[in-house]
Amino acid sequence: MIPSLAETSALIRSRRTVKPADMETDRPVEHALLMELLENANWAPTHGLTEPWRFRAFTGDARARLGGEMQRLYREVTPPAEFREDKFDKLGANPLLAPVIVVAWMERRGGDKIPEIEEIEAVACAMQNLMLSATAAGLGSFWSSPPLIYERAFNDWLGIRAEDRCAGLLYLGWPKDGASSGLKSVRTSIHDKISFADA
Ligand SMILES: Cc1cc2nc3c(=O)[nH]c(=O)nc-3n(C[C@H](O)[C@H](O)[C@H](O)COP(=O)(O)O)c2cc1C
Repeated sequence: MIPSLAETSALIRSRRTVKPADMETDRPVEHALLMELLENANWAPTHGLTEPWRFRAFTGDARARLGGEMQRLYREVTPPAEFREDKFDKLGANPLLAPVIVVAWMERRGGDKIPEIEEIEAVACAMQNLMLSATAAGLGSFWSSPPLIYERAFNDWLGIRAEDRCAGLLYLGWPKDGASSGLKSVRTSIHDKISFADA
């Protein structure tokens, strides 16, 4: 059964970023549900069928390892003058506020045949599939991309090779009562972003 355009529009327009602080920390995301979201990510479009998206899901105690590693690396790579205690704290605290954090990256698969940008675009499509599926399930999501994800040391920790690209961390969790409805997100008019060529 294919959802109607009206249902699809409602789904797309109701997806809202929900920050980890607005998620129910102690309510788990069932493994079967997480797998269904990831299965939907796997159906993103992909030039040359390279399927370059890769995911690692951190749950349970692994979330503390992720937060601890991000803090350790932030301290290591940040010049003392730029170091911010609040950022450091958030890097450690956020992963403990969400039941699931999915780290996503592009694994370079296309060789010279597929331009790198197209492999990155395919991963972004997979991320959107994941976020929309999360919305449909009632879950909140937050795509986070601290500068750290582009650091070699973080990529090494995850086993992401030099030719691959980390896309970010996707926090998933059940929104606290009223959390998502309270969040506002606006867009400027589509009319300013399109033109038509019809002759
Ligand atoms: C590639 C990408 C990276 C993002 N990284 C961050 C981030 O590091 N921090 C953040 O607060 N939001 C991040 N976001 C989420 C945006 O802030 C969010 O989508 C925007 O505010 C619009 O809100 P909405 O998702 O509810 O429509 C990112 C989004 C994308 C697509």
